[in-house]
Amino acid sequence: MNTAGPPLAPTLAERVIRRRIARRGPVTFAEYMGLALYGSGGYYTRADYSPLDDYYTSPQVHPAFGALLAVALFRCWALLGRPVPFVVVEPGAGDGLLCRDILAAAAYLPDGFARAVRYVAVDVRRGAGWESGLGNVRRVTGDALRLPVRAGVGCVISNELLDALPVHRVRMEGGRLRELYVDIAPDVADGYEGALVERAGEPSTPALAGRLSEAGVALVEGQTAELCIRYDDWAQSVAGALSSGFVITIDYGRAAADLYDSAQRPDGSLVTYRNHVQTDAPLWDAGRQDITAQVDFTSAQRAGERAGLTTVGNVAQGWLLQRLGLQTLRRKGPPASGMAGGWQTLAPDASGGLPEFLPDGFDGGGLDAGSDASRAWLTALTHLIRPGGLGDFRALVQAKGLPASVAAQALSWLEQSDESDSYSPAALAGLIPPGALRLGAGRVF
Ligand SMILES: C[S@@+](CC[C@H](N)C(=O)[O-])C[C@H]1O[C@@H](n2cnc3c(N)ncnc32)[C@H](O)[C@@H]1O
Repeated sequence: MNTAGPPLAPTLAERVIRRRIARRGPVTFAEYMGLALYGSGGYYTRADYSPLDDYYTSPQVHPAFGALLAVALFRCWALLGRPVPFVVVEPGAGDGLLCRDILAAAAYLPDGFARAVRYVAVDVRRGAGWESGLGNVRRVTGDALRLPVRAGVGCVISNELLDALPVHRVRMEGGRLRELYVDIAPDVADGYEGALVERAGEPSTPALAGRLSEAGVALVEGQTAELCIRYDDWAQSVAGALSSGFVITIDYGRAAADLYDSAQRPDGSLVTYRNHVQTDAPLWDAGRQDITAQVDFTSAQRAGERAGLTTVGNVAQGWLLQRLGLQTLRRKGPPASGMAGGWQTLAPDASGGLPEFLPDGFDGGGLDAGSDASRAWLTALTHLIRPGGLGDFRALVQAKGLPASVAAQALSWLEQSDESDSYSPAALAGLIPPGALRLGAGRVF
């Protein structure tokens, strides 16, 4: 049995969870995670939630992430025959950073793309008003698993949504699949009513064993794994939002065979973050820390296929962003006026050179490699594609209601550059001037 640590005054979310357990008995980890993240006082629903406090996502690293995804959306729009309107739905849009970056860059793309875009940003969190003044943006408070949107022709794009969906936890014990529940320990110590503890029991649903067998995964004795059984809801929801178009899903995760490899991840992939520290104590301080698990992309892809989505590709973020023209943006360098506030410039390495993880082929044209602004620019852009970090995130691209030839064209766009194509990713990225990527306060690097 794993205890939840030293006594702390319970948070609102923890009090809600304790009441639930006291009334109905132990809850599955998925129910616990749902309440800790999205219930009253939950991590994402509490009033003082501030995403930069605990972790960062690609849009928070650099606006080039959104600018390059604008290029991806432009390419999808062109493949779809330049429909007007072209609806872009972003479930899990959070504070709208990605939306604003995409729209800022879209303004520089050709053929009236920006005028065609209608952006629908969906999040379970209530609106903070970030969309005011953006005429082509509608912000909707709602559940990504039941999207309240009928977009027609368009794209659904999300970043780090699936890893935030509640997961069940299972463990192989004595040759039997057991599920981990959250319970209240019976003891009363230090005047505290009993810690939240993990307790193994019978699986709450046959879907857990079903998921493992569908993914071809056999857990070994003692192995723990997380299973999200909401991918079908997600896939049906996004597929249902589109009459035709593309679904681009970016997140951290792996193919099932890799994710559930007992040698690499014997204890699963669940992590908790607080103040940018990986705390790995999911039963502590519910509502005050993020809880997340890697996405099983094999199952997400299959759920999409069951919902009528064709898989176009599943590629690494680093590769996708480079295919979309990241190196072009790197070469262009930061805005001439210098970096706006909020950025930290990484210190040069010991020899006074640039940060060490610059990829080969770096072309200094347009950059002053000695300046702090250029160094910060290169560092942030490199961060988005760095192997072992954000560069290893996956981008799953799926199509709905499109002839095979159009899906195949999307695949060729992902796989190889056609230099004769005036809409080559590098050419499109070249249209976006550094000034469009002006850096706001609060970006990470
Ligand atoms: C890790 S944050 C990512 C935010 C943003 N996409 C980014 O890249 O910075 C996950 C976001 O998904 C939202 N979210 C989680 N589950 C959701 C659901 N079922 N429906 C809609 N939004 C959800 C959370 O409120 C949060 O804003």
